[in-house]
Amino acid sequence: MNELKVTLKGRRDDSYRIHVGEGILEKAAMEIARSGIDRRCVVVTDNTVDALHGQRVQAALEKAGLRIDRFILPPGEENKTIESVVAIAACLTSLGADRQTLLVALGGGVIGDMTGFAASIYMRGIPFVQMPTTLLAQVDSSIGGKTGVDAVSGKNMLGTFHQPRAVFIDIDFLKTLPEEIFRSGLAEAIKYGAIENPALLYDIEKAASENALRNVSFLLRIIHESCRIKKGIVELDEREGGLRRILNFGHTIGHAVEAASGFVLSHGEAVAIGMTAATRLSEKLHGLPFEEGERIISAIRAVGLPCMIPADIGIDAVIAKLSLDKKSRDDVHKKDRKIINYIMISRLGKPFAHAAIDDDILRETLTGMMQ
Ligand SMILES: NC(=O)c1ccc[n+]([C@@H]2O[C@H](COP(=O)([O-])OP(=O)(O)OC[C@H]3O[C@@H](n4cnc5c(N)ncnc54)[C@H](O)[C@@H]3O)[C@@H](O)[C@H]2O)c1
Ligand SMILES: [Zn+2]
Repeated sequence: MNELKVTLKGRRDDSYRIHVGEGILEKAAMEIARSGIDRRCVVVTDNTVDALHGQRVQAALEKAGLRIDRFILPPGEENKTIESVVAIAACLTSLGADRQTLLVALGGGVIGDMTGFAASIYMRGIPFVQMPTTLLAQVDSSIGGKTGVDAVSGKNMLGTFHQPRAVFIDIDFLKTLPEEIFRSGLAEAIKYGAIENPALLYDIEKAASENALRNVSFLLRIIHESCRIKKGIVELDEREGGLRRILNFGHTIGHAVEAASGFVLSHGEAVAIGMTAATRLSEKLHGLPFEEGERIISAIRAVGLPCMIPADIGIDAVIAKLSLDKKSRDDVHKKDRKIINYIMISRLGKPFAHAAIDDDILRETLTGMMQ
């Protein structure tokens, strides 16, 4: 079991460890039992994950001497709502949970975000640990303490910052993950390659060419490296005052593409298209060398993610979503008009925020990416 320590600025007491390994469930259970938290845990999960892993996880935690209840929500982003969080809180109340009760988020990013949110507000805050089961959650969402739910006004509109007590990443969970969801998570690992460590891009491209994307050593390497990079950024800027924004590389245009597709494209697919656009814009506007941009794009292609905008979406729909985003921000912040921040890179591993991009350049770039 490999370990990384997250040490938050000025908050040493809230430091926590990220454990990465294969078949570490029993060790994780022992670690939780040893951590001094009351022996009472509530595992929050979704139906899909519960059917595949729920009993096994409960048995391991019980074997370590913990008293376990499971609370199971319906899966999917459409259930990432305040109502689900209220349901978690109601369950905790009915179980007589108190401030010593530990929540275990067992699932993908949706379960992680909601469990963290519930933990942050139940009795003004109780502890929780992350046990991520998707690749996206293992390389990204389980670390950093952002919690939340979607609202009518937008994705993640309600939320808090609440750091987990620990993160246990067991790649065994990924064995049951369907191909498309697995690939979606690779987009985030490619993002870490682009914004900080180009070696990740070579590693991913090579593994894809050798049909080794599910190999244990490869997975452990890219998860560990992605977590290392994310933790370094969170340590410097926990509340996204500035630096943490670089984690949005590919996400501004990606979110617009995702929405314009009517959410037919997965998050990873949309982010892959968004990263391609951000790469092309970085070449045009900030002198990113073409060969370096190609490293990102060939990693995207190698893992089977798209880098072209599907013809049935069209550029106008994407731009409409981008300007809708911009307009709504302008309306909300009438006094200090905010402009969309695009994350660009001047070289591989050298990201920065660039406010606003000329509409003509944006349109020309997206036109070059039409299928
Ligand atoms: N907090 C953060 O910093 C952060 C960062 C990135 C993304 N997110 C959030 O993460 C969410 C996306 O996460 P996701 O992609 O993990 O989606 P998800 O949680 O919806 O999981 C995707 C699907 O995979 C299923 N699943 C999960 N683990 C499985 C397994 N081991 N085997 C088989 N099926 C499994 C789930 O039931 C679900 O249907 C979004 O809501 C996004 O906003 C949060
Ligand atoms: Zn993402």
